[in-house]
Amino acid sequence: MKFEDFWYIVALSKQLKSNTVLQRTVLDEWLVIFRGDDGKPVALRDRCIHRNSRLSQGKVCQGKIQCPYHGWIYDKTGKVIAVPSEGENFQVTQARRALQYDTREQDGYIYVRLAQYPTEEFEPFQMPFYQQPAWETVRVINRFRNNVTNCVENFIDIPHTASVHPGVFRTPRQQKLEMTVERRNGCVFAQYRNETTNLGWFTRFLNSKGYEIRHTDSFHMPNITSVEYDMKPHRRLFITSQSVPETEDSTLVYTDVTFNYGIWNKLARLFVHWTAQYIIHQDVKALGIQWEAIAKYGSHFANTPADTIHIFVESIRNKIAVGEDPRTLPDKSVDLKFWV
Ligand code: FES
Ligand SMILES: [Fe+2]
Repeated sequence: MKFEDFWYIVALSKQLKSNTVLQRTVLDEWLVIFRGDDGKPVALRDRCIHRNSRLSQGKVCQGKIQCPYHGWIYDKTGKVIAVPSEGENFQVTQARRALQYDTREQDGYIYVRLAQYPTEEFEPFQMPFYQQPAWETVRVINRFRNNVTNCVENFIDIPHTASVHPGVFRTPRQQKLEMTVERRNGCVFAQYRNETTNLGWFTRFLNSKGYEIRHTDSFHMPNITSVEYDMKPHRRLFITSQSVPETEDSTLVYTDVTFNYGIWNKLARLFVHWTAQYIIHQDVKALGIQWEAIAKYGSHFANTPADTIHIFVESIRNKIAVGEDPRTLPDKSVDLKFWV
């Protein structure tokens, strides 16, 4: 198993119009993204096979892309279908083609898979309740200067919330939380108990009656986290993040906040968008600082029981990094307490 076997978001569906050309980087691979003549997304290596110009600087016309340098034209399969300098001598040959990657379009996202021969047919992650009746989704995109592992760990790390997001998300109170962390089948699940009102200014709005909050966090290999708050009745909130590896120190994170707040749904959109972006900017800053020290001193960490979730995430990602299947790791479940 390799990281290239999985699907990574490269754009929102609505960002890719019929004449749009997007330049992207996934796992250090340069990509040009556009729509073919059938409207389906196309991903090619962003390099013209002629003399190495970048196709992403060219134009797309009727689902074909033209290199900006000498005007070679590529179709949606990456095949060269016109070479202006060859005039009427031009012939299509199988040998002349740019590297092409599989794409998918699902839940308003465009995905690319880099493996030409994946070890297994994975599916893109299903975004919970996307565009289902009674549910609203707010979508934000942020670039982190850090790697995927540290990003996903941050998104399901509770202890940092009191210090990085004081007041917004949580206030330091030394409240005892109980947690069960489980690693199973390439996923990590964390269930929290004893959480009631300590969720900053969210609380007044979301949980004015002070119901017990059911809070579950999960990680799904290789790059997805989901945070779920269940505040009965009819108040559920999912924060799903897909962390796309651009390079070793750059991660582009697509975050969906999906909620059902009943009659407040539409009104809540602005508020949720503003709050999500505010919180994520604080994390972008915190992870940028972390990366400065990691770049200099490496990733040797001093863990505490509350970091069990991170240790499980790392065990899964490290397996994939060495080409192995993390689903072969033994199932583990740990109960622990921490204070926040
Ligand atoms: S480099 Fe692309 S056509 Fe020459
Ligand atoms: Fe955070």
